[in-house]
Order: sequence, then structure tokens, then C-alpha cells
Amino acid sequence: MLPTNSSEKLVSFATPISYKFECSVLNAVVKLYSLRLHNFDIIGMIFFDNISKQYNHHTAALRNVTLRIQPKEFISVVGSSGAGKTTLLKLLIREEEPSEGKIFLDGFEVTAVHRRDLHHVRRRIGTIFQDYKLLPDRTAYENVAFAMEAAGRRDEEIHEDVPQVFELVGLTDRMESFPHQLSGGEQQRVAIARALVNRPDVILADEPTGNLDPVNTWEIIKLLQKINELGTIVILASHNKEVINTIDKRVVVLDRGMVVSDQERGKYLL
Ligand SMILES: Nc1ncnc2c1ncn2[C@@H]1O[C@H](COP(=O)(O)OP(=O)(O)OP(=O)(O)O)[C@@H](O)[C@H]1O
Ligand SMILES: [Mg+2]
Repeated sequence: MLPTNSSEKLVSFATPISYKFECSVLNAVVKLYSLRLHNFDIIGMIFFDNISKQYNHHTAALRNVTLRIQPKEFISVVGSSGAGKTTLLKLLIREEEPSEGKIFLDGFEVTAVHRRDLHHVRRRIGTIFQDYKLLPDRTAYENVAFAMEAAGRRDEEIHEDVPQVFELVGLTDRMESFPHQLSGGEQQRVAIARALVNRPDVILADEPTGNLDPVNTWEIIKLLQKINELGTIVILASHNKEVINTIDKRVVVLDRGMVVSDQERGKYLL
């Protein structure tokens, strides 16, 4: 049950919840991992442990990347085209496998999760892309509801939660519109609603403003900042120097697959 007060409802949306594993065996394994390995202060909520990714003999997309990301961080990953930003995000959701190294999320090893259990990991991570990736034949409401259905949520939860998440992204009056009836900025807000609706611990945003004009760009960035302030980790991959420098949070710079700079309140100077 969600809180009844509307501001609490919104807070509850962007607040990470401890994930309840349905599979008790997996749960036991996870506990074991947590006990054995992990202290957040040392390894972080997300830990890329010496990751390398080779797509083929010629392309080293990532080289010996080690990154720790703590709860509630907003981190921008920048670098020129081909630097490895998207690859880094894809590895976290296991859309790609690393050639070397391990990745941990909340104390258990993402890189060791069996394929059939991957949905447990992916449900904890919301993703947003440059091209929104909305289903064109479904309304905004249905696009978001679909993400909850896919996560096995009950109808009552869907009816209660979807309007709340539309309120959070400021699109209550457009829930019944189809994607082609929405502006780019509005479509991206629907995509953010969809990414948020299962209350992930982490939002991955890969060039989320790449197709947007400056006004919509700032609306989306402000929304990501709000979501982060409410407690969700945001990992933003972007080329947009002005955006990165205005956010004024941690900046990791990738250059040809290597981390060449990692600074709190960093700047994008390349
Ligand atoms: N599926 C793939 N097969 C082979 N090489 C790939 C594949 N995906 C990415 N690469 C290569 O890996 C390197 C890193 O690509 P990646 O997409 O991670 O870069 P990026 O920093 O996201 O770039 P952009 O800013 O253009 O989105 C590039 O050299 C790219 O050509
Ligand atoms: Mg990319």
C-alpha cells in the first residue's frame, strides 16, 4: 500500500525499495553474497570491478574500468563518440557481457546471475534512451502500465501507481495520448515514467536529451535531478557539455574505453 498523502506518494516513487526476491534459493544465495562480500562504503551500491569489454579483436570498448557508485549518486559518464558510454550501461543490465571483470549491484554479482534470473536485476534498473522506445500503438498510460504488467504487478497496483508516476513527471493530462500525439519532451517524460514505475534503485539515461531542443532538455534534466533528490541513483551518459557542467555532480570521463578522469562536482572539458 502506498502512502495516501500526495507528496509522500511521489517520494515513494523515486525511493529505492529493497528488492524482494521471489525465489527463496536465490534469496539465500544473495544473502550469502551480501554477508561474505560487501560493505557499501567499500564497494558501493554499484561496483564495476576491473571491467574490460572486447566486442571483437579490433575493438576494445572498455579497458580496465573500475567504478564505485554509492546510493543516491548522480553520475554523468561523458566522452566522445565510441568512448564506451553505452557499453558501460549495457553491461549493468547484462545486455552485453564483459570480457573480463565483475559487476556488482547492491551486493550481488550481476555478471554471475543466471540468464533465467536476469529479470530480477533488470527490474531494479530503469532505462531511458535517446529515442524513447515507446510502443507506438499504445497510449502513454498503456506504455507505462505494460512495464508493470511485465513485472508481474497486480491490476490494483497498476491502477494506483500509473497515475501517480504520471503526476511525478507532470503529464497527468496526457495519459491517454498516443506517442505520435506527444512532443519529443513529452515522449521522453513518458519513458521516464515507465522507467520509474517499478521503483528501480537505478535509472540509466543514455543520451536522454539527444533529440530534444534546449527547453525540453532542461525539463528532462530537472526531472532526473528531482528523481535523484528523492533517492534514486541516476547514471547519465551524455555528450552535452553545458548540461553536464550545469548539473555540477560527479563526472566520469571515458576516453577510448578507459576512465581518464573521475571527479566529484566535475566538469566536462574535453
Ligand atoms: N555490438 C557491437 N559490436 C562491435 N562493436 C561495437 C558494438 N557496440 C559498440 N561497439 C564499439 O564499441 C565502442 C564503444 O561503443 P559505445 O556505443 O559504447 O560508445 P559510446 O561512447 O556510447 O558512443 P556514442 O557517444 O556514439 O553513443 C565503439 O568503438 C563501437 O564501435
Ligand atoms: Mg552511446
